[in-house]
Amino acid sequence: MIVIASSNPHKLDELRRIWAGAGLDLELKSLADFPGYVEPVENGRTFEANALIKARAAAEFTGLPAVADDSGIEVELLNWMPGVRSARWAGVGASPAASLQLLIDQLADTEYEDRVARFTCAMALVTPDGEERVVTGVMPGHLVLEPQGSNGFGYDPIFVTDGQQVTNGILTDAQKDALSHRGKAARAMAEYLRKL
Ligand code: IMP
Repeated sequence: MIVIASSNPHKLDELRRIWAGAGLDLELKSLADFPGYVEPVENGRTFEANALIKARAAAEFTGLPAVADDSGIEVELLNWMPGVRSARWAGVGASPAASLQLLIDQLADTEYEDRVARFTCAMALVTPDGEERVVTGVMPGHLVLEPQGSNGFGYDPIFVTDGQQVTNGILTDAQKDALSHRGKAARAMAEYLRKL
């Protein structure tokens, strides 16, 4: 049994689907199953640091092996920001739509070929006896300035990954899982989980 350091049911379903596809038979709990849990402050400078902060806190609280992920979008023209600030790009408490619009505005008057971007996901595993593993997945692509599609979340409507003609907002869940930063990190993590 392992705990996923998130109470987002969408993330749990996604990991369950990816790990089942990798042939892993795991019982997954979420933090919603552990009342009284207080989320740690995510003040790391990197995705890896934040994933470890979340996984350590969950392993300590639950006594179970814990997996946490941290992810975001990085844009070359913005010196690879927003990065770890992706969820709060338009300010703490601002909506995902406001952060999306701010990023679009910041890229006004630029060319598609120059709007190089990537999604990155770091995923950490921490066991109660202190073993720590971190893996990373990257989804490279470009940004469009006209949002397209309503699948996915966050910056998906403006992100076109390499080899695709449409944004992540148009891709199905299965198509996105096969290509995504989180899918890649989760499949790499499956190898460590198999050994638990
Ligand atoms: P977190 O890892 O759940 O904290 O997500 C960080 C933020 O990065 C999200 O709120 C989104 O703004 C952005 N992000 C991360 N992964 C994706 C994705 O797959 N699609 C769109 N936005 C994403």
